[in-house]
Amino acid sequence: MYRKRQLLCDGVDLTALAEEQGTPLYVYSADQILHRFSLFADAFTQPHTVCYSVKANSALAILRLLAEQGAGFDIVSGGELERVRRASKAALKRVVFSGVGKQVWEIDAALKAEILIFNVESEAELALLAERAEALGKQARFALRVNPDVFADTHPYISTGLREHKFGIDIGLARAIYRKAARSRWLDPAGVSVHIGSQIRAVEPFAAALERVLALIGELKRDGLDIRYVDVGGGLGIEYGAAAFDPAEQVKSYAAALTAASGLHLLLEPGRFIVAQAGGLLTRVLYVKKNGAKTFVITDAGMNDLIRPSLYQAHHEILPVRQGTATEQVVDVVGPVCESGDFFARDRKLPKVKPGELMVLLDAGAYGMSLSSNYNTRVRPAEVLVEGSAARLIRRRETMKDLFVAEILD
Ligand code: LLP
Repeated sequence: MYRKRQLLCDGVDLTALAEEQGTPLYVYSADQILHRFSLFADAFTQPHTVCYSVKANSALAILRLLAEQGAGFDIVSGGELERVRRASKAALKRVVFSGVGKQVWEIDAALKAEILIFNVESEAELALLAERAEALGKQARFALRVNPDVFADTHPYISTGLREHKFGIDIGLARAIYRKAARSRWLDPAGVSVHIGSQIRAVEPFAAALERVLALIGELKRDGLDIRYVDVGGGLGIEYGAAAFDPAEQVKSYAAALTAASGLHLLLEPGRFIVAQAGGLLTRVLYVKKNGAKTFVITDAGMNDLIRPSLYQAHHEILPVRQGTATEQVVDVVGPVCESGDFFARDRKLPKVKPGELMVLLDAGAYGMSLSSNYNTRVRPAEVLVEGSAARLIRRRETMKDLFVAEILD
């Protein structure tokens, strides 16, 4: 929102914030995050737990904000488990542990933390889980993550629900594995899980995957197993472009597509949907230059700070922080990193900007900072959480010293 031609994040003036904290800077709205989270409670009437997917944005302050609202968490590593522990010990019992390559130390840490459930992705992992559960004297609740062989229209790098993907266990083989596992006193076959991919905007693929999962659960129940949980994964998409988008309606139709799961406790693992549109990346224009017919706007943020455009050809809207005159120009917005793939927008019509001016890359709250790196030996951005009209620094900018702490010279 602009006030007096200056862009605000809730009650905070972004020009003043950039002066104070420097750029590039990730800025998140706590109100937006909480609002998105609350949409799930409004739309889902059956017993459910929203297990926010930590990988989307794993800032401790954001995890704590969500934990205070009763959120659970979807984790994929021992590191993410440690994040949840630091943000909220009470939330550990609402953790689901996904991932195709869990290691012994990660399984042990999760067993000791008494998490809610393991989403197991192979027979070998299940055998290891049983072994570690016995060694630690802790029974492990688990769900097999089944691969439903359902197509969802999204970028190929983030589609997961087809047989040719590395994720999950062929749904046709799952029943036999459950029956075998049920004989172990260290394993509690408590659920079935599925995740078909990310940034999926149509709700039909979720319904199709659930239908297959419920058919399996019916069989497992007939086999005498006490299946209580159905985990439908994450993946609910948003609108990155300028098109109108009603998040409340989106969650409502998602909930409507999942009503068949009644009678079971539903686990949901949204990541992007909760945090993407609550965050922006604030950056300053360093140079504007012309090469041939092209005009390049060079920003102080680069692909190491926000890799989505480079990696997935993702579109992020870009706004100037100071609302200028109406003159527009077709430009490429690029970062300082030494790769031609380091771009935020190509041939985009944008209001004219000059060096020193600020811009915001919108919808960068998910898979922005969490996918950032130190490529080109660049320090990663600071992060700020806006709470009403107050801005709280939740991660300081890295320093040159931070970049070298792990290196050994002699
Ligand atoms: N659960 C599982 C098992 C997942 O693998 C994922 C995402 C989620 C939940 C959360 O999905 P979401 O609700 O955020 O779509 N870096 C990519 C997205 C990778 C998603 C990986 N898995 C991007 O920037 O688009």
